[in-house]
Amino acid sequence: MAPISFARGVPTPEALAVDELADCARAALERDGTRILLYGPGGGYGPLREWIAARHGVEPSRVVVTSGSLQGFVFLCEQLVSPGMRVLVEAPTYDRPLKILARLGAEIVGLPMDDEGLLPDALEAALASGDKPAFLYTIATFQNPSGRTLSEERRRRVVELALEHDLLVLEDDPYGLCRYEGTPPPTLFELDGGERVAYASSFSKTIAPGVRVGYFVLPPALAAEIEAIAVSTYISPPYLSQATVHEFIARGRFEPNLERVNGLLRARRDAMLEALEASLPEDATFSRPEGGYFVWVDTPSGPSTDELLPLAEEAGVTFVKGTDFFAKGAGGERSMRLAFSFVSPAEIVEGVSRLAPLLHGARATTSV
Ligand SMILES: Cc1ncc(COP(=O)(O)O)c(C=O)c1O
Repeated sequence: MAPISFARGVPTPEALAVDELADCARAALERDGTRILLYGPGGGYGPLREWIAARHGVEPSRVVVTSGSLQGFVFLCEQLVSPGMRVLVEAPTYDRPLKILARLGAEIVGLPMDDEGLLPDALEAALASGDKPAFLYTIATFQNPSGRTLSEERRRRVVELALEHDLLVLEDDPYGLCRYEGTPPPTLFELDGGERVAYASSFSKTIAPGVRVGYFVLPPALAAEIEAIAVSTYISPPYLSQATVHEFIARGRFEPNLERVNGLLRARRDAMLEALEASLPEDATFSRPEGGYFVWVDTPSGPSTDELLPLAEEAGVTFVKGTDFFAKGAGGERSMRLAFSFVSPAEIVEGVSRLAPLLHGARATTSV
């Protein structure tokens, strides 16, 4: 029995425009080879930087294109966080930033969430007590891991609080363009005008993660500092990747490809929600995202996911435990992240049919 992975938050191989990207890489080299094959500005390949800057209405000097956005997150933390400093995050949040922050000795403060994203009252309370945080890290749209989206009203409140408390907010938005229904709310960056909100995104979900092209739009002084860290880390980023992405965009392939990718994701999201609806225990709840890669499932009367995961693996299906997305594993004991991006709709149906009986079965065992 082939295992089915709901753990992998990566695109299905079908989503990757391999031939077109090969063609773009060749064309980029032929057109601009001497620039691409030399060292250059640490902030990224000029034409791509300019395109991103125009899209966000800022000067190109405020854009730093990094080797994946996670690398930029590391740079930002190295600049802003010293041991013992508080950093506010959503609880749950993306596990890799949690690990990076823990490595740097940050005091990670998790802000509780509900279906509409982080609770502004919790943010306000965190700001009213203790030292000033280095920043707030939020994935406001189609959050990893929960799939939740911060409501517009709350976005406005978060921006107000940032202004009142002179708080830097990092809005990490790799999934925002992977919307397959509904109207997008304004980004925090748009609401704030880019003063207190730094914005990060990536071409990992819209083109391909393997190109390793992510970017940050930062206040001017911070942009210069992050660019300097980039230079001292790798001199300049891999321009061939960045130029390939730029060529793809310049040919007008970005939007049509995104539409195609979102169609693939929508079919997978639909299959996942339908299967969960039909087969989870009655008291289980799950998010219903209008985009992105993930569904978050809470099973209050189910087994802990520590117990569940080995059983699921034995049954031929995997997921990521909720505890991985809380600082020090403190939370999410009966929650799981199901990624629907990688597997086919048929595998999703099969995977849920392997997983769901374990949740019912565990209840029966507990009650005996
Ligand atoms: C919220 C979030 N931020 C950043 C990343 C990393 O993106 P990149 O591939 O650009 O490093 C991911 C990848 O899964 C993510 O979910």
